Parts: sequence; C-alpha cells; structure tokens
Amino acid sequence: MIATTSAGQAFDTLAKTYDSDFTNTLIGRAQRSAVLTDAFRIFKGRPRILELNCGTGEDALQLSGRGWRVLALDASQQMIARARFRKLREAPLADLRFQQMRTEDLSRIEETFDGVFSNFSGLNCVENLTAIAALLASRTTIGTPLVFCLSTRVCIWETAWYLLHGKPAKAFRRWPGRHRTSLQGNSVDVFYWSLSQLQTIFAPFFTLREVRAIGLFVPPSYVESWIANHPWLLRMMIGLDSFFSRLPLLRTLGDHMLLHFEKTEGAQP
Ligand SMILES: C[S@@+](CC[C@H](N)C(=O)[O-])C[C@H]1O[C@@H](n2cnc3c(N)ncnc32)[C@H](O)[C@@H]1O
Repeated sequence: MIATTSAGQAFDTLAKTYDSDFTNTLIGRAQRSAVLTDAFRIFKGRPRILELNCGTGEDALQLSGRGWRVLALDASQQMIARARFRKLREAPLADLRFQQMRTEDLSRIEETFDGVFSNFSGLNCVENLTAIAALLASRTTIGTPLVFCLSTRVCIWETAWYLLHGKPAKAFRRWPGRHRTSLQGNSVDVFYWSLSQLQTIFAPFFTLREVRAIGLFVPPSYVESWIANHPWLLRMMIGLDSFFSRLPLLRTLGDHMLLHFEKTEGAQP
C-alpha cells in the first residue's frame, strides 16, 4: 500500500497552477459564482468570517472586497504564500489574514466568528469531521451559518464522462465513499460523504437549512477544453443549474453540493 502524504504537502504541488487550472477557467468561474452568490446572501450582516482550506485566497479576497473581515486558513504553505502575495497586490489594506493551518488544528484559533466558509472540497480531505463540527461549535454563537461546498458521493457528469471515455474505475471512484487519489505523485485520501452522513455529523450543534448542487449541468473542471469550444452550451448549463439545483435528489448529484448549516439552540460545544 502506498503511504499518504499530508494534504498540505500534496496541495503544495498544485499551488503554482491552481488558478490557471481551475480558478480562472470558464467552469471554475461558473461554479464559484454559484457558490459565492449564496455565500454573500447567507453571510449578510455577519462581519467576521472564518474560511477553511482557502487555497490561493480567491473567495477570501472576494469577501473582504465586499466588507467582510476574514481569517483564512489552509494546510498548504504554497497556497498560503500565493494568497498572501495576492493580498499584497490586490487588497493591501483589507482586514484579511491568511494563516497556514490544517483544519484539524482549529483548536489553536481562539477567536470567535459570525460565519464559517469552506469552498471546493477541502473538507473532503478531513477524515474526522465530527471533531471539526465540535470545534466549530466552540468558536461560534447561536445563529452562526456554516457554508460548505463539498464534492458529492455521486456525480452524474463524472460517471457518464469517464464511462464514455472507457475509464470505469474513474467513473465510479467516489461511490465507495473513500478514494486514494494521486496529486502529482502524492497520495491523498479523499472522503465522499452522503448528505445524510453530513447531516448526522453536524446535527449535535448545527441544523441543515439549505442544500443545492454546484455543477449539476455545469460540468466538472476536467471538461474545460471541450466546454471552451461550446461557450453557448455553458451559458445554457448555468441557466439549467439555477433552475434545477435545489430539487430533491438532483441537489446531491452534481460535482459539488453546497450546504448551509446554522448553529441552533441546545448546541453543546
Ligand atoms: C480544491 S482546493 C480549494 C481551494 C479554495 N477553497 C478554492 O475555493 O479555490 C482544496 C484546498 O484544501 C486544502 N486542504 C486540504 N486538506 C486540508 C486540511 N486538512 N486542512 C486545511 N486545508 C486543507 C488544500 O491545501 C487546498 O488548498
């Protein structure tokens, strides 16, 4: 069995090209725009945001540009280095801090927050989410929203795409709920929870308020070169996503699902 590398070290190898490979692609922009539209609405009037697994800082910069105070964490030293560089260039005066820290080490943060955000699957790299739920409960007050975008267990696009390309192992890689993937030769375990598992994990402290698919008709990022030749199709898919992404069943079959939890009375941090 191949040993796994820490997620931080593995993602270090992606940091340099992450923005060109995902953030600045047509698909990356379309999926992120759908996430941020909801995040801006849910975090309205809640000034202090904790962002987990922030990557190169795209969302933190967007939030801080709209007036939120943000502490953004990531396990990868290289991702954080790029995020800090972007802050210096794009928002030197913003109340925005980037810190290298694994989500598992959240107990080292002593502040409290009015909202917690995690975008594009960083939480799929954390095995013990039950511990994270308890830690987040101890850093938030009643009414605090969590907005989490995680990879789904079943992505219709992915299964169809890889079956069409004769790659059945890739087509079904998420289905068992855990998959060891290789990032530039570094092995990382990725955990694909079902919606009901996530609801159970967060239930002692947080109540699920909303769920929607991110990337239901809009495809996963590895379809970029094909979609780049069909921009009208992407526009149509974005429209279909806004129409169908909240429907029961469909909301868990996209590339990602966006969950809105809220800390509720009776929570026992
Ligand atoms: C797919 S990227 C998403 C980055 C960013 N949130 C975005 O929206 O572009 C996943 C990020 O999760 C981070 N990550 C993975 N496991 C982590 C962990 N255990 N603790 C903190 N960050 C982690 C990686 O370093 C990487 O930056």
